[in-house]
Amino acid sequence: MVTLRAMKASDVPGAVRAWDQSFQAMRATYGLPVSRMTQADIVRLQNRMRHFLATDHDGSWVADDAGVIVGLSQSFVREGYWVLSLLATLPGSQRRGLGRQLLELALSNADPLGPGTIQCSRDPAAMALYTSAGFSLHPVVVGYGTVSPGTVSRDPRVRRAHEQEIDVVEAVDRHVRGSARSVDIVAMLKEPGSRLLLLEDRGYAVAKDDRIVTLGACDEEAATALLRTALAEMGGNEVVEVNWLTARQQWAIRTLVAAGVELSPYGPVMVRGLAAPPSPYIPSGGYG
Ligand SMILES: CC(C)(COP(=O)(O)OP(=O)(O)OC[C@H]1O[C@@H](n2cnc3c(N)ncnc32)[C@H](O)[C@@H]1OP(=O)(O)O)[C@@H](O)C(=O)NCCC(=O)NCCS
Repeated sequence: MVTLRAMKASDVPGAVRAWDQSFQAMRATYGLPVSRMTQADIVRLQNRMRHFLATDHDGSWVADDAGVIVGLSQSFVREGYWVLSLLATLPGSQRRGLGRQLLELALSNADPLGPGTIQCSRDPAAMALYTSAGFSLHPVVVGYGTVSPGTVSRDPRVRRAHEQEIDVVEAVDRHVRGSARSVDIVAMLKEPGSRLLLLEDRGYAVAKDDRIVTLGACDEEAATALLRTALAEMGGNEVVEVNWLTARQQWAIRTLVAAGVELSPYGPVMVRGLAAPPSPYIPSGGYG
């Protein structure tokens, strides 16, 4: 019999396994490229799960079938802004209502009329589930490919910064998304290869050698300069990823096209309590 219960620290490895199996099975079903998680991916996801378990214990749930984790959900709330980080049910346990129940539990830690977002996968079941829970759907493209040589250069106003300057990020986040999430930015910066870029007090990006983790700015000119600089630093032959670009992020779409990075459709951003996803802003899939 399946029991729904709060997630414990000892559940984390099993919950990551359940996520990986469900996500990869979904991608195979819909003919999308499937790639196994590396050991580094597993560690990164386990750390992120533990992070939210510590900050938002009432947002983390599992479906337990005789000691085996067959489903999970994880959400968190920052200054009234709700984010779903993960939701999955193992293929053999799907279509029995578990996903809906896990989502309802993950929603129960916040004001149902408050702002909230979900970076949704390509799974039609997830899109249906979030739509019927009152979220509106905003289609997304992902930039994925190499940066064409000589197309982008560093902006001299953009500089590397450290977590001591988190107050700049905090102010920008309150401006662009109506809620700061410093504890999460610090967690993102702890991941290997993460760096913080600032442009005056107008915007920030958390970037790695192959991706934008998240980016927020007070205006599109600052957002564009940050994205161009991050792409210039990635450069070379590395395949880069810039995801979750809704129609409001035309500044980012134009920048990626100019840099020769290919765009393709991805899963939508789902929003409630907001007219549209924050902008200029690039969310993180798991950190919002
Ligand atoms: C999304 C997911 C969690 C749903 O889990 P589940 O346990 O099957 O969910 P439920 O049984 O509660 O069904 C959810 C709803 O989706 C509907 N649904 C299922 N497959 C569907 C499809 N292909 N198209 C449209 N709706 C679909 C179901 O009918 C159900 O609606 P209902 O309650 O009105 O009948 C599961 O499919 C999954 O793990 N997917 C892979 C991981 C993933 O992509 N997660 C989302 C991350 S954002």
